Amino acid sequence: MMQFTYYGHACFAVETGGQTLLFDPFITLNPLAKSIDASKVRADVILVSHGHNDHLADAVAIAQRTGAPVVAPYEVGNWLENQGIDNVQSINPGGTPEFKFGRVKMTAAIHSSSLPDGSYGGNPTGFLVMTNEGNFYYAGDTALTYDMKLVREWTKLDFAVLPIGGYFTMGIDDAIRAADFVGATKIIGVHYDTFPPIQIDHDEAQGRARQAGKELLLLKIGETIEL
Ligand code: NI
Ligand code: MN
Repeated sequence: MMQFTYYGHACFAVETGGQTLLFDPFITLNPLAKSIDASKVRADVILVSHGHNDHLADAVAIAQRTGAPVVAPYEVGNWLENQGIDNVQSINPGGTPEFKFGRVKMTAAIHSSSLPDGSYGGNPTGFLVMTNEGNFYYAGDTALTYDMKLVREWTKLDFAVLPIGGYFTMGIDDAIRAADFVGATKIIGVHYDTFPPIQIDHDEAQGRARQAGKELLLLKIGETIEL
């Protein structure tokens, strides 16, 4: 069993093997996440998919407070080191660092990546997490891409965390197709509602997923579920 907590936008935590993995911390600047206190959020490992501020605005503060290692694309990792974070694993797609809870493979994403100061963020990425308690894939900000078919060749998934808001990433229809590509029936939707261009109709999105034989989970901000 893994515990999944949603912190809004594309920020979430997964607890597995007694460790808390925190993804794409963006809380204090999220107008929908006022109920979450970023200074209380737990992390044993922090994973940042790319350099956009809506994925790392709280990364420096949480990394400093927790001392948790940060896994990030190479250029994003260098930027974090320049912000004073020591414990950074700057990798690139294909890299698969090992931790107490299991392994994390950095995957390709079709998107862009620049840091808050406008500097080059390298390639945007996603993460495939493989543990003793189960496996999941977080696509990061991305369009649908055939590269996702590799995920089902690498491992069998328990769930996939996919952007569904459209505009900056794939929308619900391509996310459903992405779930097919990676071999997941359970989708946790992220990257929707936060800003006007990515506001979606929840019932419609869940209906489309159901029609395609998928389960689309849209969690309340602050909600925790077992998977
Ligand atoms: Ni982005
Ligand atoms: Mn984003």
